Amino acid sequence: MKGIILHGGFGTRLRPFTYTRPKQLLPIANVPMSQCGLNSLKNAGINDIAIIIGGENSYKVKDYYGNGEKFGVKITYVEQDYPKGISHAIGLCQDFVDTDKFAVFLGDNILLKDISQSVKDFEKGDEAARILLCEVSNPSQFGVAQLSSDGSLVKIVEKPKNPPTNLAVIGIYFLTTSIFEVIANLKPSWRNELEITDALQVLLESKQKISYDVITHYWKDTGTPSDIIDANKILLSQMEPYFFGIREDQVIIKGNVMVGKGTTIRKGVTIEGPVIIGENCIIGDGAYLGPNTSIGNNCKINSCSINNSIVMDGCEISCGLKISESIISYNTTIKSNSPKNTIFTLGEDNKILL
Ligand code: G1P
Repeated sequence: MKGIILHGGFGTRLRPFTYTRPKQLLPIANVPMSQCGLNSLKNAGINDIAIIIGGENSYKVKDYYGNGEKFGVKITYVEQDYPKGISHAIGLCQDFVDTDKFAVFLGDNILLKDISQSVKDFEKGDEAARILLCEVSNPSQFGVAQLSSDGSLVKIVEKPKNPPTNLAVIGIYFLTTSIFEVIANLKPSWRNELEITDALQVLLESKQKISYDVITHYWKDTGTPSDIIDANKILLSQMEPYFFGIREDQVIIKGNVMVGKGTTIRKGVTIEGPVIIGENCIIGDGAYLGPNTSIGNNCKINSCSINNSIVMDGCEISCGLKISESIISYNTTIKSNSPKNTIFTLGEDNKILL
């Protein structure tokens, strides 16, 4: 079976971060979120993967994943000139897929469930597609599935105002080549996209079988900053602690903490896990980190408190501030002498002197 990861789109709800890089590259627990999909496919034995890219920053996806060797997979890049929907993106992969069955993973979906069993069942089954469903409290924001009394799938509808159930269709799809003919004849939706849900609905209407698995594990479509902060918290809670850095005397560490090599935790610092700190950082001057906080590589954090937040590579924060529920993008400097509580949503390369 082959794999496809969708890595395009505008990511408008995640501006300003998405002005400078595709949203799927934004780090959660210090790893680009799309790597969740790649690892998931790889763990299910899918090593031949196409990544669909688009937009002026898509070279950053190629820079990160390369030919896939570092990640133990083979990667082919497929360019999408403009984000015209999930079905459109899948349609571009017909040559790559050839005659195989394939799994599609939306690069902004985080799923804490091994998909191996679904892959195996789909490989040996004769259905045209298999989908994953998850009960949610806000089904109107997703594709939604309707089931008949015997449990078979009867309808799939995109973002319905009056959802027939609370079963959201997760952004992971198992498909066969029969989808390509459907996509070729699909009309754009109200949001001017070729929807995957519409393509699946055509399969159902033409009496082709679609199977499904209901997932009870953590799943998140990371559309907004608060989704990312939530996913960060959950992914951190799953990590095993490690410490490859230098820890000076009189440092307090509680809970699970992951510290990369070359990082120094200076005297007087308190870290309350779960917290991840990347490589070559200096944490000092009585800083308080955690819980649910990710600090990237090459950061200097002094005299401040940071919790429930993501700080990306190359940041310098030295400000006496209490920073919560914040996402601070690459190479941001925040320095201040007047402590206050605050929330930041900062893109790359900011300098804030308070
Ligand atoms: C897309 C799909 C939707 C699905 C969701 C899962 O929505 O169209 O059916 O439930 O992904 O992440 P979008 O993120 O494009 O709004």
